[in-house]
Amino acid sequence: MSINIADLRKEYAAQSLLETDVAPNPITQFSTWWQQALDSDIDEANAMTLATASCDGLPSARIVLLKGFNSNGFVFFTNYKSYKSIQLEENPKACLLFFWKELERQVRIVGLVKKVTAEENDSYYNSRPKYSRLGAIVSQQSQVIESRQWIDEQFLTLLEKYKNEEPARPDYWGGYIVKPIIIVDGIDALDTRPNTAIFDLFDYKDHSFNLKGSVTDFKEAVRFAAMDNNNVVWIAHTYKGVFRINTEGKSGAVVKLYTDKNGLPASISNRLFKVKNRIAIATEKGIYEYNEKKDAFESSAWFKPFFGERNIRYLREDAAGNIWFIENKMPGVVDFSESKPKTIYFPELNGRIPSSFEHINPAFLKDQWISSREQANE
Ligand SMILES: Cc1cc2nc3c(=O)[nH]c(=O)nc-3n(C[C@H](O)[C@H](O)[C@H](O)COP(=O)(O)O)c2cc1C
Repeated sequence: MSINIADLRKEYAAQSLLETDVAPNPITQFSTWWQQALDSDIDEANAMTLATASCDGLPSARIVLLKGFNSNGFVFFTNYKSYKSIQLEENPKACLLFFWKELERQVRIVGLVKKVTAEENDSYYNSRPKYSRLGAIVSQQSQVIESRQWIDEQFLTLLEKYKNEEPARPDYWGGYIVKPIIIVDGIDALDTRPNTAIFDLFDYKDHSFNLKGSVTDFKEAVRFAAMDNNNVVWIAHTYKGVFRINTEGKSGAVVKLYTDKNGLPASISNRLFKVKNRIAIATEKGIYEYNEKKDAFESSAWFKPFFGERNIRYLREDAAGNIWFIENKMPGVVDFSESKPKTIYFPELNGRIPSSFEHINPAFLKDQWISSREQANE
């Protein structure tokens, strides 16, 4: 009897997801769902689809097992010579997908990928049963092997060889960590009160705004603003230059304007961001910073190795200290998780960023890396 696939259908009605049920921290939310998965009779709750893609965008997916997670990311182990590893070497980004049908739930995690340390690899490898450790040595993932018989013979030879010895981890076997893409907190916000020349300055921390003070004699529309570590407010104006507002003075705020006469390559087209605790002026000729001794701006020696004299239109630091940026219409990230920072571009998004209002939206990225069936259906 033939079954019409299109007629296969299941009603998902047991679960619902309300905004009020979701923890603000996605890892906390995942921990809750993970516990629910463990408490349910789910066979291999840690089985997840791992999707990778080569540089030219050709995708590939397979099942792997989650072996641990914490606020840094989600870990799985594999053969470093496998096809997935080849794709991850050339394009260190991945998507993980859990489908727990008993809970009517899927969870998607998108992130940047790195190898875990040799110590972590050894520690996990040595915790596995001998049989699995020998299997890891003999298994040639994604390779064509001579025959089933050949691999069985290899395994038996190894079994004999390591009868009285513990096998060491082969260097082609180890783990990867998928570090979710999330950007949280840490922005300074500025709000202009309508019809008055006063603006209030708020500091945004831990999901709430705290009033820092008011400035009464500044009458400009503001888009790029941030407060430095000395409570000085910096504002990049669309065409006038960069304003420095010192709010600490007893007789009110002192406002000063810096232009191309004060070291900036131009008075127009400057944007301002706070990253790595620095006030970065993104000009059309690279990133500039204020030099207090000279009371002028100069090309930033700190940012230059990453951005040269390029036209960076947007900067944003994430919770892990990586710098997200948009260069012309190309998004990318300077990954600071290793001793030598590495720049990663996302060519699949090139040209898809609207100019003038570039933004890497934290909410969007959060939704990207963790979502549920209900959200996905919206
Ligand atoms: C339930 C299940 C769990 C698996 N777990 C892993 C794993 O943790 N690591 C792994 O490398 N392969 C695992 N595999 C095998 C992979 O799905 C895949 O076949 C293999 O890694 C080769 O993939 P690649 O050629 O895309 O690199 C698992 C397969 C299944 C069905």
